[in-house]
Amino acid sequence: MTYTLENLAGDIRQTLKDSPGNAGSSDICQFVEKALGDENFISTNFGTDKTGPRHIIYEDPDFGFCICVHMYHDAQNGKPHDHGPSWAVYGQAEGVTEMTHWRIVKPAEGDSPALVEQEETLVMDPGMAHFYKVGDIHAPNRAGKVALLRIEGANLDNITRSKIQPVQAA
Ligand SMILES: [Fe+2]
Repeated sequence: MTYTLENLAGDIRQTLKDSPGNAGSSDICQFVEKALGDENFISTNFGTDKTGPRHIIYEDPDFGFCICVHMYHDAQNGKPHDHGPSWAVYGQAEGVTEMTHWRIVKPAEGDSPALVEQEETLVMDPGMAHFYKVGDIHAPNRAGKVALLRIEGANLDNITRSKIQPVQAA
C-alpha cells in the first residue's frame, strides 16, 4: 500500500492532536521518513512541475502546519537561522545536506543579533528526517542538487525569523 500526501497530512494531524509541542517530534520524523521511502509518494510529489525552490503542497486548515517540497539546483552554504516561533522537519529526498547546528553564545539584545557558534554537523542522506524544535539554530550546506520534503509548524512565509550572526563574523 502506498503512502500518500493525504496519509502524511493525516498522520501529522493526529500526532499534533495526541502529542502537542515537541512530544510528537520523533513520530513526525518517522512519518516523513515513511513518505521519503515510498516511491509512489516521491514520483507523485516531486514531479517535473516542482522546479522552484519552494512549493507548499499542503497547508493544514486547523493546525497551520505546511508540507513543502524544495528543489535546489546549485551548491550553496546556508546562513544559520531559526524559524521564529515555528518548528520544522527537514527530510532529505535527493542529494545530501550537511546541516550544521549552532548554539547561542550571546542572546539578541535590542537591534543586536544573537551571536552563535557552530557545534556538530549532521550529514543528511536521502531518506533521513530531522526535527528542529522552536529556536533550534541550523544552516544547510549542499554541494549540488538537493530535493527536500520539509514540514513547517506554521507557514514560514508569514513568520519573522530571529536575527542571528556567527560569532566569527561579529
Ligand atoms: Fe531552516
